[in-house]
Amino acid sequence: MLPILVTGGCGFIGSNFIRLLLEKDPTTPIINFDALTYAGNLANLHDVAHCPNYRFVRGDIADRDTIRQVVGEGVSAIINFAAESHVDRSIHDSRPFVRTNVLGTQVLLDAAREFGVNRFVQVSTDEVYGSLGPTGAFTEHTPLAPNSPYAASKAAADLLVRSYVQTFGLPAIITRCSNNYGPFQFPEKLIPLFITNLLADRPVPVYGDGRNVRDWIHVRDHCAALALVLERGRPGEVYNIGGRCELANLDLTHTLLDILKKPRSLIRFVPDRPGHDRRYAVDCSKIERELGWRPTIPFPQGLRDTVTWYQEHNDWVAGVRSGDYLNYYRRQYGALAG
Ligand code: NAD
Ligand code: TYD
Repeated sequence: MLPILVTGGCGFIGSNFIRLLLEKDPTTPIINFDALTYAGNLANLHDVAHCPNYRFVRGDIADRDTIRQVVGEGVSAIINFAAESHVDRSIHDSRPFVRTNVLGTQVLLDAAREFGVNRFVQVSTDEVYGSLGPTGAFTEHTPLAPNSPYAASKAAADLLVRSYVQTFGLPAIITRCSNNYGPFQFPEKLIPLFITNLLADRPVPVYGDGRNVRDWIHVRDHCAALALVLERGRPGEVYNIGGRCELANLDLTHTLLDILKKPRSLIRFVPDRPGHDRRYAVDCSKIERELGWRPTIPFPQGLRDTVTWYQEHNDWVAGVRSGDYLNYYRRQYGALAG
């Protein structure tokens, strides 16, 4: 059996996805192809790295020669998680976002086409749709209207995928998921940043008025959806994935403070993110109807489990909150960094 090529498998969602596949069947052949940027961490997969048919290859998806070599050896499918994934970093410097998210996706698409790969899943985001008003939800037909350089680079990749389906008949599928949370998330995104700050009794920076709304999904539910799409999704289609769990940032912050029994005085309102999308909500009825998937992890339980995971993984937290991270934190949050 040919291996599945998982790109970006050392990141948050990719590592949870590989773990899910190997939990189902530890003999599943997998190549994890990852550049190990600041967000990639081999420790995210230490518990499954010994599986007999699991192989790690360090490389950049924008490096055509290496990708051609790996794909040319034969892969049954490609699932592309590799990306620069943080909106605030894309505001500081969009160059790596264009390189990895756009050019890297193009390189993968070319290789998939050249070597006749049977299935290509592009892991995209609801952020390509832009921002919602107080009502309604994104469907697969919502026009693309990205507002951050990150979202624009993901939308560009989606359009390239679409064009390879239309022009070359590539059997590719795009998924667009809402905000993930869960174990192994790098503490630059809201939930792990706030948990790890609060565990150290540090303040938490809430952008703007804190009334921006996100639709939260546990990473395991997202990964289960991706496994189904990989297996049974219809080529050429787009599938939205969401948690049906809308929350304003400030309400979420209060919940985290309550879980950790920390005072509200740790909240700091800081200047808003430029171009900050007001609200995301995902209509995921298509994947529910076609593939029988549902989000299964209730948010209160998933959030408590996530807090516990960070409490129990001090070493992991200490490992990622050093060096480069501290520079990023100072640049992003200034005086709050202390
Ligand atoms: P992440 O930042 O945690 O991980 C990204 C991984 O990609 C890292 O392991 C990194 O080393 C690797 N990578 C980066 N550039 C690379 C390159 N040029 N070549 C090879 N590997 C490279 O990201 P994540 O949160 O796990 O997100 C994974 C995917 O899911 C991304 O495509 C993202 O756009 C998408 N997504 C994320 C969310 C979310 O809430 N985190 C929601 C919807 C979609
Ligand atoms: P984030 O986790 O960066 O995800 P995204 O921007 O991709 O949705 O942010 C989630 C929400 O939390 C978003 O509305 C921005 C807000 N936020 C803060 O208020 N403070 C922070 O320090 C961060 C990182 C995010």
